[in-house]
Amino acid sequence: MPERRPFVRLPTDVFPVNYGLCLTPDLVDFTFEGRLEAAVEVTQATNQIVMNCADIDILTASFVPEGGEGEEVNATGFNYQNEDEKVTLSFPSTLQKGSAILKINFVGELNDKMKGFYRSKYASPSGEVRYAAVTQFEATDARRAFPCWDEPAIKATFDITLIVPKERVALSNMNVIDRKPYPGDAGLVEVKFATTPIMSTYLVAFVIGEYDFVEAQSSDGVLVRVYTPVGKAEQGKFALEVATKTLPFYKDYFDVPYPLPKIDLIAIADFAAGAMENWGLVTYRETALLIDPKNSCSSSRQWVALVVGHELAHQWFGNLVTMEWWTHLWLNEGFASWIEYLCVDHCFPEYDIWTQFVSADYTRALELDALDNSHPIEVNVGHPSEVDEIFDAISYSKGASVIRMLHDYIGDEDFRKGMNAYLLKFQHKNASTEDLWDCLEQASGKPIAAVMSSWTQQMGFPIIEVDQEQQGDDRIIKLSQKKFCASGPHSAEECPSWMVPINICSSDDPSSARLKVLLEGPDTTVTLGDIRPDQWVKVNPGTVGFYRLQYSASMLESLLPGVRDLSLPPVDRLGLQNDLFSLSRAGMISTVVVLRLMEAFVNEPNYTVWSDLSCNLGVLSSLLSYTDFHEEIQEFIRDLFTPIGLSLGWDSKPGEGHLEALLRGLVLGKLGKAGHKATLDEARRRFKDHVEGKQVLSADLRSPVYLTVLKHGDSATLDTMLKLHKQADMQEEKNRIERVLGAISAPDLIQKVLNFALSEEVRPQDTVSVIGGVAEASKQGRKAAWKFVKDNWEELHNRYQGGFLISRLIKLSVDGFAIDKMAAEVKSFFESHHAPAAERTVQQCCENILLNAAWLKRDADDIHHYLLQRKAPPV
Ligand code: BES
Ligand code: ZN
Repeated sequence: MPERRPFVRLPTDVFPVNYGLCLTPDLVDFTFEGRLEAAVEVTQATNQIVMNCADIDILTASFVPEGGEGEEVNATGFNYQNEDEKVTLSFPSTLQKGSAILKINFVGELNDKMKGFYRSKYASPSGEVRYAAVTQFEATDARRAFPCWDEPAIKATFDITLIVPKERVALSNMNVIDRKPYPGDAGLVEVKFATTPIMSTYLVAFVIGEYDFVEAQSSDGVLVRVYTPVGKAEQGKFALEVATKTLPFYKDYFDVPYPLPKIDLIAIADFAAGAMENWGLVTYRETALLIDPKNSCSSSRQWVALVVGHELAHQWFGNLVTMEWWTHLWLNEGFASWIEYLCVDHCFPEYDIWTQFVSADYTRALELDALDNSHPIEVNVGHPSEVDEIFDAISYSKGASVIRMLHDYIGDEDFRKGMNAYLLKFQHKNASTEDLWDCLEQASGKPIAAVMSSWTQQMGFPIIEVDQEQQGDDRIIKLSQKKFCASGPHSAEECPSWMVPINICSSDDPSSARLKVLLEGPDTTVTLGDIRPDQWVKVNPGTVGFYRLQYSASMLESLLPGVRDLSLPPVDRLGLQNDLFSLSRAGMISTVVVLRLMEAFVNEPNYTVWSDLSCNLGVLSSLLSYTDFHEEIQEFIRDLFTPIGLSLGWDSKPGEGHLEALLRGLVLGKLGKAGHKATLDEARRRFKDHVEGKQVLSADLRSPVYLTVLKHGDSATLDTMLKLHKQADMQEEKNRIERVLGAISAPDLIQKVLNFALSEEVRPQDTVSVIGGVAEASKQGRKAAWKFVKDNWEELHNRYQGGFLISRLIKLSVDGFAIDKMAAEVKSFFESHHAPAAERTVQQCCENILLNAAWLKRDADDIHHYLLQRKAPPV
């Protein structure tokens, strides 16, 4: 576990009621001036006030008691505690109990670190370099824009005024109530915004820049605008449509109206996260908001829909009701990560998005949570670096997965009843995990707190062992649980256990539960009546329970035909395969068993099932790159993907939809990467036509084609791609290219790509995916990327100021190593190069490297043997 840093929350003797905040950013000098007039309440007489403050210079501070009884008192000392990101204002006399105004004048820098109040670089339509001033406050960076009580439970109202160049757009959480020339400077205007509801500091936002917008009114009367770069308003239409559908959907689902008169969604050029749910002014990366009908691919549309759905859910779950402390961050993020799928399923049923949830979130969470270096969903955090650290797959994906399991356990009706009670009870206030359980328990009459705390307060999850026996017309099913570990089942005496809602189905109706049990202890036995010996029984239909399964040999055998003949539903085929894959990594079954199972997927039609398979084969391929039979697994991949590749072809057929487009891109990319000759030839032909302007590649084919030609390309190919990158007008296209550049093979070209990652051509937030792309593409790439990270550590760490992007970079660069000594090397590097917010990630990576190495030692020979005999003629 990371070492705990000493940390104390702010004292409560003085707290804010209203922030009157006026800011004047200077977009040329990259500084800002601020004036805060905070209405505060003193609950205990004191002569000092402690607030959060970082990277800000306070010029003057004074205290004015309300009601004219006392004189204005000037603070005589500003004592900055930089480590703690606090300032103590000392006053020469005692501040008495009661209401008062605290006035602070300060200055700060519009930094280039994508946090606090920062500058974001963009090009005007004519190509001129300009800057916008924007904010990103979550989790703990409001204190970099103005001195404040920067804790989620210290809510207050905000009256914000911005003094900005008169031709710029100025936005904040609320609507503009006044805009007038600024007396001191004819070039400036003073823009005043309406008072916000009572809210947490991390949700405050302002943006000053040049933007166009599209707008619409949602059916529940909210004015929705999508702000885009100048000249690109059209690209906001898709998000606008999603947002106007989503707001009434949530209003109806929560049975609570959206409380502000407007909501803006705005694309910000330099942006660290994917998007941020600031109340009434949601900020997005350009690629998470903008869609161009011709040049955006299907997966971008889907991503925009999910992100919009996610951030709008926070307007209720997070903004209206806020977690009491960051320990409960998962409530925000887990819940939003679950309901974004509900919302997209409502808006775009044709996306079959819930199946995709299983591959994108559920399996990802299981994988991370099987590590000894995982952490419980609810985790004590104090210092900001510990807070940054928990924006991870446990809070998001495990959080979403256990909520999905809970929703299934409770049923939609009672779930909604409980949610509504929770939102009404805690609106404009703060809540903890327990508070949500109480409301859901009330609504459902089920033991929610007991069940759920076993999932949120202890890390990990169980593996359920299943066996069966036929007795007459009955099937007796034995279930038992143990903690599942990535290195095999938990073997110690004291094994943690979970309260596991378990559903069981049988072959007569594979998609619905025939029996539901709550496994409360180590094991139980249940009976399914009226069942013939030839009918199969499956546990966890729909793959909703957050656990892995290990069936007895005969039960597993009985399920396999259902994979081949597709009588098992897609999400169950996916889950079965994914469980077996993780069991093989943990050494509980041979990897050969999984390879055999994978071959049963030749007739698979489902995109998400293929996507999950493809992902696991990618892991295996990367592992086997450390052997001398890497080519044999490429051949296996080619053989597996060829039939589906042939049946899909290159061009979309009439009547095809979203999922066919995704599947085609996936399969062609996989075949091209694995060196399938016909795919490579066709990709080269189409690429040439594209570059020569003869026939532009459809957006959905670009990634697979770029990847294929680069993987088998030379320096001319790389130069062409870099040229396409430079010419691209859309950030989506730039990112598409950046992510595949690492596929290039020659060592000198790999180096060129790495240098490109840190160049001016790549936005600061995207450097990570360029370096990551190099590391993930090949063994040589991984080695080069890791060396590059080490050689440029200072610049990278400084660039991200230790935020979550640095964790992502580390994981992408080193996770795939499969040699023991690399774990030691990574560990020792970070012992001398501290990355506080990435400590846990480093430990997880080292654990993964050792697991990979062990897997390779254990199974390499068997895999090799299997791959060889598979091709051998029968004797
Ligand atoms: N609240 C987060 C944004 C955030 C992330 C702030 C990390 C501070 C640190 C936002 O709601 C979010 O979760 N964004 C996601 C996208 C979402 C669709 C999963 C992101 O930024 O990746
Ligand atoms: Zn979120």
